[in-house]
Amino acid sequence: FTAEIDVTDTEKGTYPHFMLKEIDEQPLALRRIIQEYQDEHDHLKLDQNIRETMKVCDRIYIIAAGTSYHAGLVGKQFLEKMAGIPAEVHVASEFSYNMPLLSDNPLFVFISQSGETADSRSVLVKIKEMGHPALTITNVAGSTLSREADYTLHLHAGPEIAVASTKAYTAQIAVLAILAVDTARAKGLELDFDPMRELGITANAMEVLTDQKEAIDELVRDNLGTTRNAFFIGRSTDYFVCLEAALKLKEISYIQAEGFAGGELKHGTIALIEEGTPVIALATQETVNYSIRSNVSEVVARGANDMIFSMKGLEQDTDAFVLPEVHELLTPLVSVVPMQLLAYYAALHRGCDVDKPRNLAKSVTVE
Ligand code: G6P
Repeated sequence: FTAEIDVTDTEKGTYPHFMLKEIDEQPLALRRIIQEYQDEHDHLKLDQNIRETMKVCDRIYIIAAGTSYHAGLVGKQFLEKMAGIPAEVHVASEFSYNMPLLSDNPLFVFISQSGETADSRSVLVKIKEMGHPALTITNVAGSTLSREADYTLHLHAGPEIAVASTKAYTAQIAVLAILAVDTARAKGLELDFDPMRELGITANAMEVLTDQKEAIDELVRDNLGTTRNAFFIGRSTDYFVCLEAALKLKEISYIQAEGFAGGELKHGTIALIEEGTPVIALATQETVNYSIRSNVSEVVARGANDMIFSMKGLEQDTDAFVLPEVHELLTPLVSVVPMQLLAYYAALHRGCDVDKPRNLAKSVTVE
């Protein structure tokens, strides 16, 4: 495998920061992924060995760290809902301490932008010793996790330079969706929607969002100015995006941010809400729209400053931002974009080093 790297990918060009450039590159990366994985007859181009391994495995164990772990949480839904394979997601650094009982035919899927994360590698070494198959999903061809696994799926996102991961996250979700679709087709499972077409629609929606930077910047100025903390709440798939949104915000702006499941608020977190505490809620799923809005009312009643990001068709007049509509399984690809921009502008206005936040490394090669 040879990776073609365009030199402009490693330069900022007219952008003030790599992170902003990489946020903007997401629609293009998604279109590139569709192109790389689909031929002119709309057939998916996956290694036959991967296809066969996916067909025979009885459970998938996703191993990852940081943002890649959050992409894995979304990917689990695809594998279960589209491909009908039970999947579980593990933080790499915890896996060895609490190794789950393994199924008869497990497949390990390592998700890693860099392909070099030591925590993930140590799991890979262990499960290879046990004789289990491994697939790595990575942005870096020839990386350690790619070389040492049996199979690799490439992200085609282009080099990601900013420490805070953005386009790799959406690329990981897209590639996991394609893997699930390919497996569903190989197993003869019917999907009630055209997933590749929906991914194309999603790329267009992402582009609409990257053009709305000023609106997000304004929300940040009005609501996150001097705050010391912020909470993200969501249910179902939105909850997974909340975890990523909170990680992004704390990584680069140093605002203490946490993502919570809406239903868990009453079990403790609500004690943290004070007058003016920013609470950002995602409401992109019809099934949980009512319940997440009632969680928002609970925090507003205790003084929170709410900002609801809803999906078109589910919106209400008081929502802070309405996302363009995409298929319900693919909403993370769009809802994360304004979350990345929130973090970017919050960090920018606080004078933080957006691309190189303190204490963090792009690739962590120690356990
Ligand atoms: C570091 C980076 C994170 C990243 C994580 C996993 O902590 O700062 O942005 O999500 O490693 O990296 P990987 O390359 O395995 O996806």
